[in-house]
Amino acid sequence: MRCRTAAVVGQRWGMLAATAVSQSATDPLAGLVLGDVPEPEPPPGWSVVRVVSSSLNMHDLWTLRGVGHPPDRLPIILGCDAAGYDEDGNEVIVHPVIADPDAGRGDETLDPGRALLSERHNGSFAEYLTVPARNLIPKPSWLSFDEAACLPVAWTTAYRMLFTQAKITAGDSVLVQGAGGGVASAAIKLAVAAGAVVYATSRSEDKRTQAMAWGARLAVPTGERLPERVDVVIETVGEATWSHSMRSLRPGGTIVIAGATSGVNPPADLGRIFYLQQRILGSTGCTRSELVALLKLMDATGLRPVIDRTLPLDEIHKGFQLMIDGQLTGKLVIKEIAR
Ligand SMILES: NC(=O)c1ccc[n+]([C@@H]2O[C@H](COP(=O)([O-])OP(=O)(O)OC[C@H]3O[C@@H](n4cnc5c(N)ncnc54)[C@H](OP(=O)(O)O)[C@@H]3O)[C@@H](O)[C@H]2O)c1
Repeated sequence: MRCRTAAVVGQRWGMLAATAVSQSATDPLAGLVLGDVPEPEPPPGWSVVRVVSSSLNMHDLWTLRGVGHPPDRLPIILGCDAAGYDEDGNEVIVHPVIADPDAGRGDETLDPGRALLSERHNGSFAEYLTVPARNLIPKPSWLSFDEAACLPVAWTTAYRMLFTQAKITAGDSVLVQGAGGGVASAAIKLAVAAGAVVYATSRSEDKRTQAMAWGARLAVPTGERLPERVDVVIETVGEATWSHSMRSLRPGGTIVIAGATSGVNPPADLGRIFYLQQRILGSTGCTRSELVALLKLMDATGLRPVIDRTLPLDEIHKGFQLMIDGQLTGKLVIKEIAR
């Protein structure tokens, strides 16, 4: 379906975009409108990017469901990931965290005013995007636009969870919950590349098979006991896997949590945490430096993202439905449509 969104009536129509216009916990796609919007004008210090590829994240779905995104910030163009060309024709990747490192004591993810692309500023499901010039990173030639568009949210989140938060080293054992997810698939591949012994869980036999193909030592059905207690758990699933994460962790081990797709309020089990001296660390987004470090690691190891499929922007509703149905393994890339 294509139509013009009421909020931009009267302005110059220039590009196709996928805009969140309303929110519903039960029918999120009802608020997703594919239509013409004006091309963006960059404020001073900001750059225009012609988007070639972007990718879908659960974050886009949360916005449509009304989770973590106040309705007064609608309408807004969705999309947190982007790779494309800057105004001088250079190939770039967009760092999606719009924030001031100084306000976060050197870490922009700790800036109280930080915003991920599509939270306060229009996102990347459009032909053009504007971001602060600082948020542009040169795209290496060895990475395709589609691959590059998978990195800014999912892969950097996994990178920060493993290396900045948990500080894993070769030989550590790492459990990754929900193997098929964008963040989880990245975490499996990154942890394997770092020399960790990796265990994974998934509800799907196919995704467990995939996890083993990516180098996991063992992939088991969600909730099944592991052969050993692990040093680190990478959690993005939440309620459905939390008690398994706690039970699978060795004394003194670390759970890093960056998401809770299946629910945010599992039993806390405080006795286990203090008695076994476990550490639970939250993690959100990444710094520009971490995205640059991730690129170096991928260059050194040859790692590439898992891409389930690529869809054109005008089929984005189908992409969202696949994500809602849990049908994806890894990332779904959205190709922008130049007109
Ligand atoms: N803090 C941050 O900066 C940050 C960044 C990125 C993502 N996130 C959050 O992290 C979560 C995952 O994001 P994503 O983009 O990786 O999403 P995704 O690609 O849709 O993956 C979600 C994964 O969670 C698992 N899952 C979902 N419901 C489940 C259930 N009921 N029981 C067991 N497993 C279940 C699934 O694994 P299987 O199908 O393999 O079982 C699925 O592959 C989201 O909540 C997202 O908002 C946070």
